[in-house]
Amino acid sequence: MKFFVDTANLDDIREVNDLGILDGVTTNPSLMAKEGIKGHDNILKHYQTICEIVKGDVSAEVISTDLDGMLNDAELLADIAPNIVVKIPMIKEGLKAIKILTSREIKTNCTLVFSAGQAILAAKAGATYISPFLGRLDDISRDGIQLVEQLVQIFNMHAYKTEILAASIRSPMHIIQCAEIGADVVTCPPDSILKLLNHPLTDIGLKNFLADYNKSQA
Ligand code: E4P
Repeated sequence: MKFFVDTANLDDIREVNDLGILDGVTTNPSLMAKEGIKGHDNILKHYQTICEIVKGDVSAEVISTDLDGMLNDAELLADIAPNIVVKIPMIKEGLKAIKILTSREIKTNCTLVFSAGQAILAAKAGATYISPFLGRLDDISRDGIQLVEQLVQIFNMHAYKTEILAASIRSPMHIIQCAEIGADVVTCPPDSILKLLNHPLTDIGLKNFLADYNKSQA
């Protein structure tokens, strides 16, 4: 399972990248706004910086919702770096955009996916990734993990090449559950990845090992 980090914060991206386990980055307009990135050119520059830090795929989202606008946005984003993946919303015009961008060999990530039907359409259109938002489903008392499980089953059965990128991850437990059910990718807030490192028995064990070593040196 690939690990992406879901943030536009450069320090966080560097911190997770330095662990050596990072495969990519996802962003969205809200995450960019959170970092205070304003203006079209600054947004493009910020994406470029992220692409310089991380070798893997970096999802950058279109802001138009009509077909021509999305295609224009996508061309501009794809020109930033070879590892840009254009994030397209799961709407009718978005589906058409994914089909056209796929024929132009531009990678796409179909975002805001909340049902198996939406995921199947995006896979048929040739999306590189589809992003089911499991945390947001949990928020409305629907089982996000169950959707990812259903998608893994359908995509395996039909041998779809599209990768299932589990998004809207809220906890380390979500990450482990995604690994158990066979998601291709998880995109996680940095702290959910870092929390996977922690176990109290590791801390106690290390403390004792070092204390015993120090005693043997006395
Ligand atoms: C995915 O690509 C989205 O950026 C993200 O996972 C959304 O997560 P949220 O529901 O925590 O905003």
